[in-house]
Amino acid sequence: MKALIAYFSWSNNTKNLVEELNTNFNFDVVRIDRKEPYSRDYDTCAYVEAKKEVEMRIHPEIKKLKVDFNSYDKILLFFPIWWYTFPMPIATFIKSLKGYKGEIIVFANSYTNDPQYMENSMKDLHAIDKNLKFREGLFNQNVNKHIEFIKRI
Ligand SMILES: Cc1cc2nc3c(=O)[nH]c(=O)nc-3n(C[C@H](O)[C@H](O)[C@H](O)COP(=O)(O)O)c2cc1C
Repeated sequence: MKALIAYFSWSNNTKNLVEELNTNFNFDVVRIDRKEPYSRDYDTCAYVEAKKEVEMRIHPEIKKLKVDFNSYDKILLFFPIWWYTFPMPIATFIKSLKGYKGEIIVFANSYTNDPQYMENSMKDLHAIDKNLKFREGLFNQNVNKHIEFIKRI
């Protein structure tokens, strides 16, 4: 299997998870970043910038990724939950995958362990592009669970 890890992270929990699990796999990794970075101040990021984007479903510009996605069988997509779903740069990233034939496996983490967040995320991902193949991965699991899961796919 040739897999690419794509992730978004603001306070590095997702980044640390990805880096730790990937010592077992050494997959290529790309980081999804909003072109204009979010504030480093939590209240500004959460209650002003991110809240508005999620509520209005604004898909912000992201930094260009120089990757040939179609050369990968699978994309392992990692993100934190922002306001009950994925951060909106993920929506922009998904739109850039138009026509991708492989599978996109979804891994999310959040502060509160509410399974509804993963359901929301899967539903919202499908709504962005119904032709892409999404598969639910793991929600709020530790690094070892991720390693076991990824070894089986
Ligand atoms: C803008 C923003 C919105 C968030 N919304 C939620 C939420 O709706 N539910 C929740 O449980 N955690 C929420 N969190 C917490 C993050 O999902 C959690 O801390 C995650 O592990 C952060 O990952 P990161 O360090 O990779 O950015 C939010 C955090 C931020 C910054």
